[in-house]
Amino acid sequence: MTVPTVEFVSDGGTVTAVTAAPGTTAMRAATGAGVQGIVGECGGQMMCSTCHVYVQPDRLEELPEMEPDEDEMLDLTAAPRRPESRLSCQIVLDEQLDGLRLTMPSHQV
Ligand code: FES
Repeated sequence: MTVPTVEFVSDGGTVTAVTAAPGTTAMRAATGAGVQGIVGECGGQMMCSTCHVYVQPDRLEELPEMEPDEDEMLDLTAAPRRPESRLSCQIVLDEQLDGLRLTMPSHQV
């Protein structure tokens, strides 16, 4: 089984590749690896929007459709929302998502 790796790209363009156990959320993978740029203040409860990321557009359709709660929280992000915006606490990594690239906004709060 492939262990998924996700690439976090900072606003300045620095790429940090993080390997995570399947079933881990991208937010947990980032905070667990000390990636700067993902805060995850609410621990993944969809209450803070500080785990906002921009998903690489050509892989956006591989992610499950967002729930209404996520959609609502994405209207409250500190940095501008874009069509490829998602909450990284709602992205569950699996081997199909191996190599996914997530760009972090300039700020989360
Ligand atoms: S960690 Fe709070 S909304 Fe994702």
